[in-house]
Amino acid sequence: MRTKIVAGNWKMNNDLKESKSLTKKIIKSIKKTALKNTRVIIAPTFVNIERVAKKAKGTKVEVAAQNMHFEKSGAFTGEVSAEMIKAVGSKIVILGHSERRQYFGETDEMLAKKVNTALANKMEVIFCFGEVLDERKANNHFKVVESQLKNALFHLEAKDFKNIILAYEPVWAIGTGETASPEQAQEIHAFIRKILTDKYDEATAESISILYGGSVKPANAKEIFSKQDVDGGLIGGAALNKDDFKAIIDAI
Ligand code: PGA
Repeated sequence: MRTKIVAGNWKMNNDLKESKSLTKKIIKSIKKTALKNTRVIIAPTFVNIERVAKKAKGTKVEVAAQNMHFEKSGAFTGEVSAEMIKAVGSKIVILGHSERRQYFGETDEMLAKKVNTALANKMEVIFCFGEVLDERKANNHFKVVESQLKNALFHLEAKDFKNIILAYEPVWAIGTGETASPEQAQEIHAFIRKILTDKYDEATAESISILYGGSVKPANAKEIFSKQDVDGGLIGGAALNKDDFKAIIDAI
């Protein structure tokens, strides 16, 4: 059975006090919940990882970083390495988020390097990808998704996918209140599994958790998660509220 995952991407929200408080509330809210085959991950900003990870240690909550540089160290002002993230208590990193691609110029080529570095450091990657609105309108979303995966991940071996979680996030649905319909999500998730089967094998394709992201809320989570190839969600806005986040976890 594939692992289900609900991951909260806090983006550039929550200062230290707020991060500690939200972490505490989330831990408490799921303490008595039987999380059958389900992982809960939160991704605070770099500066708050250490304190959040300390609070989450030994609980059902895991902590991820939102980005990472591919080099180990050096003259890269403002960047953070895999070793640095691990040293403060996180072994998971979100890579390729559309905001990183859009506002910070991240390319598939850079992402391939970041993925390699993360895996070499025995970190798990939540790899994000997805089309923009014009690409969807032109019916190019399948092509776009395929090329994003090919360019950044398909140099890997099948066994590497044990440490990869995929997150399909149509850019037009991120933070917009607009979601892909459950059918649209299922259609593309099934397509992703097909290209993974073609490139690798069915066992690999079937074992990878594929999350949906883009305006997942308590009101729509259950329907989206009910789809066969949707294994959970990467949650932005709704992950900042403990009740909404808990309701989404309960929907899985
Ligand atoms: P959203 O963000 O849930 O606010 O749309 C999702 C994401 O960016 O991962």
